[in-house]
Amino acid sequence: MIPELVVEDLTVRFAGLTALDAVGFTVAPGSVHALIGPNGAGKSTCFNVLSGVYRAASGSVRFGDAELTALRPHQIAALGVARTFQNIALSPRLSVRDNLMLGRHRLTKAGFLAAGLRLPSARREAARHGARVAEIAEFTGVGEVLDVPAGLLPYGMRKRVELARALCMEPRLLLLDEPVAGMNGGERREMAELILAIRESLGISILLVEHDMAMVMRIADAVTVLDFGRRIAHGTPAEVQRDPEVIRAYLGGAAGDGAHDPRPANGAPEPGPADGAPEPGPAGQRAEAGR
Ligand SMILES: Nc1ncnc2c1ncn2[C@@H]1O[C@H](COP(=O)(O)OP(=O)(O)OP(=O)(O)O)[C@@H](O)[C@H]1O
Ligand SMILES: [Mg+2]
Repeated sequence: MIPELVVEDLTVRFAGLTALDAVGFTVAPGSVHALIGPNGAGKSTCFNVLSGVYRAASGSVRFGDAELTALRPHQIAALGVARTFQNIALSPRLSVRDNLMLGRHRLTKAGFLAAGLRLPSARREAARHGARVAEIAEFTGVGEVLDVPAGLLPYGMRKRVELARALCMEPRLLLLDEPVAGMNGGERREMAELILAIRESLGISILLVEHDMAMVMRIADAVTVLDFGRRIAHGTPAEVQRDPEVIRAYLGGAAGDGAHDPRPANGAPEPGPADGAPEPGPAGQRAEAGR
């Protein structure tokens, strides 16, 4: 039911910059697979190719029988690939319920005409989607705020609503770009639990970009490490954590390399406290910037 995601030799270029250089990895069905690396490594670029926002220069991304690099974003979504964004992309004036209903749009059969005429079939369908939205909201911990405009919610709740909206697409593969960025320790722990609960109860595959290494080490089944667009390591969390290339990539950033976040120890792939204090330092600050 859930196919593998197979990324092979994926290359993406922006005017002279190779953002991804022949990158490959496979996301096993029903697994949590983390994509990590210092700032500018190419993680979001990879997500943007997977969801059809960016075009690959070469290489392939296969999800079951489908070649995703040939498809447009709505076609990829229709195959059951849903994503969240590094920066929250909700409609702030719409209620949480309406934001989640938008997530169900691709599953809606009744056309705008039927819905506009309030035909019984369209009403029944809307009721069915409303019930599912309420269920997903409950599961993700936003059931209490369904009628609140998304823009009025605290940051941690908005991140949950974004995840809920992605789940409303009934995905088979969920792409999460920094789901706990900017959250405090307690919120991070809860989000980690929610991600594991999604895997357990829905059995879907999750590809996760995250700078919080303690969280990655705790919830990922496999980890792929990028640096300057190249894959530098791959394996279990324990394997990549002691990989000399990985340690060098993160410490290289600490030496003041312009393309890297000079991230101190809490950004390095070391086993930290799983639910430590809010992440101080550049990572947390960058995550909050512009919100
Ligand atoms: N649309 C674009 N046009 C030009 N360059 C881009 C574009 N998108 C990304 N890049 C560049 O590609 C490289 C990879 O960026 P990307 O956003 O994928 O990194 P990242 O690993 O997600 O980093 P971060 O951890 O900071 O989110 C960077 O050098 C970035 O400046
Ligand atoms: Mg990014």
